[in-house]
Amino acid sequence: MKKKWTTADMPNQSGRTAIVTGANTGIGFETAKALAAAGAEVILACRNEAKGNDAVNRIRQEIPSAPVSVGILDLSNLASVQAFAQEFRANHERLDLLINNAGVMTPPEWMATADGFELQFGTNHLGHFALTAHLWDLLTATPRSRVVNVSSVAHKFGRMNFEDLNWKDRRYRGGPSYGQSKLANLLFSLELNQRVSAKGQGPVVISAHPGWTATDLQRYSSAARSMNPFLAMQPWQGALPTLYAATSPEAEAGDYYGPHGCFELRGYPKKVGRTQAAKDTKTAQRLWKVSEELTGVAFDA
Ligand SMILES: NC(=O)c1ccc[n+]([C@@H]2O[C@H](COP(=O)([O-])OP(=O)(O)OC[C@H]3O[C@@H](n4cnc5c(N)ncnc54)[C@H](OP(=O)(O)O)[C@@H]3O)[C@@H](O)[C@H]2O)c1
Repeated sequence: MKKKWTTADMPNQSGRTAIVTGANTGIGFETAKALAAAGAEVILACRNEAKGNDAVNRIRQEIPSAPVSVGILDLSNLASVQAFAQEFRANHERLDLLINNAGVMTPPEWMATADGFELQFGTNHLGHFALTAHLWDLLTATPRSRVVNVSSVAHKFGRMNFEDLNWKDRRYRGGPSYGQSKLANLLFSLELNQRVSAKGQGPVVISAHPGWTATDLQRYSSAARSMNPFLAMQPWQGALPTLYAATSPEAEAGDYYGPHGCFELRGYPKKVGRTQAAKDTKTAQRLWKVSEELTGVAFDA
């Protein structure tokens, strides 16, 4: 792998179609912009139409001919996830890249999705699980397609508590709940990749994380925001591991990419490790089963 991989190293993406969730700001915006600059058609999957349109306009200011558009997707509402997928399928015959990027971090109080799940678990994991399932046949039918799940260093603090995944029976704590949702992202990748391997057919599944990047993600944490000037990267750089996972011919199925620097907080993409908990195939299978039950969405439907 090149030592300082950047968007200049990205292969041409002409003819490819990408969905980036949470693309109106932060890492998702930079991911969408870079893919569009490389020639891909990009659907910015956003929950807020005005914010999505503003992002499209900002991309077009830099790349006037960019084939970018907005799709309305609220990952905290399973009906919205299904509607987005239906709309996409009605208008597209291929899906080369699904970038499961959107996320919410540490709301100060327990909050629920439209379907009654804890907001971080429901949005960061279950919403993306359902979205991927709804688009699975299209992904599988598209040659050399990829799914990139965006996790976090915070997965290291996560524990899957299957007795209470939604933090209903315990005092809610935002940090551990975020960690659980980000661990779930890696376990989802693990089981998805296993299933593709077993079938010998399907997208390349890769995970990525952006280290520490100054974005709206820290909206609920004044402590994290106060550290941003000293520690954080800018979103263009935070997007590089995702872009590497999505486009590099050297990125491999099942791998996990993050920044190369100290504690993986900053730097250029490299292959990174994950905790034992994130490698636990039994937990990944259990999470898969529970996720199908909770969302009512099955991959082989
Ligand atoms: N920044 C970091 O240091 C860092 C570190 C580790 C991992 N990550 C991960 O990187 C990913 C991107 O985060 P970011 O830093 O770019 O944060 P961000 O700037 O806050 O962007 C998050 C995006 O997700 C969207 N989103 C939130 N809830 C959604 C929902 N229910 N439905 C659809 N979209 C929703 C947001 O939309 P709105 O604008 O409408 O809220 C926004 O577009 C996340 O998965 C995050 O966990 C970030």
